[in-house]
Amino acid sequence: MKIAIAADHGGYLLKEMIIGFLSNYEGVEVLDLGTNSTESVDYPKFGFACAETVANGDADRGIVCCGTGIGISIAANKVKGIRCALCTSVEMAKLSREHNNANMLALGGRTTKPEDALMMVDTWIKTEFLGDRHARRVAMLDEYGCDE
Ligand code: RB5
Repeated sequence: MKIAIAADHGGYLLKEMIIGFLSNYEGVEVLDLGTNSTESVDYPKFGFACAETVANGDADRGIVCCGTGIGISIAANKVKGIRCALCTSVEMAKLSREHNNANMLALGGRTTKPEDALMMVDTWIKTEFLGDRHARRVAMLDEYGCDE
């Protein structure tokens, strides 16, 4: 599984921690899209870049971090085909995969303890979509806003 990861300055340190965690993670390759320091940058740019990478198939999934995870998740969800879940617990990370087939995970670097964030990442990677009735609802999300 190829995972694209991006953050603004508020999520930079958490992004680096997640990259370290995933460097020893079997079956996962990480594509780091920046930012690369705590210098102030604009989160939409990094949210869009990560989401586009997932939407165009250059990565299977994406993880984005900003101060709260809110702004960068809003940015990611602007991109067609993206279902970015802002999670604050392992239970939410699990359900975002099982019910929503979330292809992106958003986390808050200033609002989430690093150890909790890493447990969420681990669960989110390992959890499969349940399909069935959830597939119909996810299809409704993906169809909305289509031009056809
Ligand atoms: C940046 O200061 C902060 O606004 C950003 O990281 C994020 O929390 C936005 O939602």
